Amino acid sequence: MYFICTYCNAYVYDKKEGDPESGLAPGTAVSDIPEEWRCPICDQPREYMQETTEEIFLEKKSRTRKRKDGSEPEKKDLTYFRAISRSMLTGLCGVHPVCDGARDRVCAGQKYGKPLGVGGAGQGNTFHANFLALQKYKLKQKVVKEHYEPEMKSEIFGMEIVAPVLGCSISGVKASMNDAIPEAEFYRGLLQGAQKFGTIGLVGNTAAVPDHLGIDMVKENGGWGIAVFKPQSQDRLLELFKLAEEYDAIAIGVDLDGCGSAIWAAKGKPVYSKNPGELKELVDSTSKPVFFKGIMTLEDALAVADSGAAGVYLSNHGGRVLDSGQGVVEILPDVAAELKGKITIMVDGAIRTGYDVLKVIALGADTAHIGRPLLRMSLAGGGDAVRLYYNYVKGDLRRAMIMTGCKTLKEATPNILVPI
Ligand SMILES: Cc1cc2nc3c(=O)[nH]c(=O)nc-3n(C[C@H](O)[C@H](O)[C@H](O)COP(=O)(O)O)c2cc1C
Repeated sequence: MYFICTYCNAYVYDKKEGDPESGLAPGTAVSDIPEEWRCPICDQPREYMQETTEEIFLEKKSRTRKRKDGSEPEKKDLTYFRAISRSMLTGLCGVHPVCDGARDRVCAGQKYGKPLGVGGAGQGNTFHANFLALQKYKLKQKVVKEHYEPEMKSEIFGMEIVAPVLGCSISGVKASMNDAIPEAEFYRGLLQGAQKFGTIGLVGNTAAVPDHLGIDMVKENGGWGIAVFKPQSQDRLLELFKLAEEYDAIAIGVDLDGCGSAIWAAKGKPVYSKNPGELKELVDSTSKPVFFKGIMTLEDALAVADSGAAGVYLSNHGGRVLDSGQGVVEILPDVAAELKGKITIMVDGAIRTGYDVLKVIALGADTAHIGRPLLRMSLAGGGDAVRLYYNYVKGDLRRAMIMTGCKTLKEATPNILVPI
């Protein structure tokens, strides 16, 4: 008899063979599995084990188990890495099929003074609003046309990338990800995975490690990456900008929406709101392209453009800094109407698929940035897993462009969308 753990949908068990590696002797019936036993992949108890077919057993086994000779399974695909990340993020993230911050998700709901994990601030409404805002646009299917191979190549800050898709700046393995791997290794996965795919990885800034770790990791990656700094004191930011220039990073970012963090203040490194003069001082301090992240109003976007910045990054930090906020895509059309072509418009917030990427490009974004899915991949499998996710998104973007009649990204305009 064959069984599958219905929690991770990855671990399979054959009663006849048992699973000596997890302490189950051949012939152990599921009902006799000890209560303290936990699924080796997702750490859940035996209650999640349900009978399955031989076909599913063999298919899952080939993906997730070491073979008898000790070699690794043949197929380390997204399902495999998602299952691993579920076990690493137990209690914080259910690695649900759709990562939308909805009420019934493991990450959702108030935290009552505990760290946010991978969820959103307060009740998690802003995180979910990012997802809902994207669903307010449908893609128009258009298939009577010449056949073509869509051109996805794109450019940011003078660098060519294979598609207009980049990572988000993420940090905080210790506080937000069960301390699953070292922070440096996490950044390495984000940076290397992006580079192997043909785009640029971003890394964040957490108070738990030295504030130059992100930029050090960009240096390790030969400068191919971008560090986004917290809005610390102007003097410290200017020092960090100098380091980024010295290490020849592709660009430099500041997440202005980090200004509400109490954790940074508690660690003796207070963070601040920045005024237009301070933005300009930062931009003028370096020859590198500078962008400001965490912009959620047209007014702030115009101020960023006035500072001479190379990029305005529309984001609400994945809903982690202000509850009851708007979804990012709600403000994109107004910003694009004023600033498209004048400054690089970067966007994140619940972008999960190539279909989402095409929507934000059609609404005026130059680049789409992916957060939580890449977080899970970097934890579970480093750069190889991160690259797999980018490939998955690119595959869907290609299909979306074919199916909506877009031969080039320029042809992705609001005309391919139906607002509902
Ligand atoms: C656990 C976690 C840590 C994050 N850390 C940072 C950070 O250090 N700096 C930053 O600019 N943004 C940070 N963000 C926000 C992301 O850069 C990005 O704005 C957000 O994840 C996008 O939403 P998505 O995850 O739904 O795609 C973090 C997000 C998460 C989930």
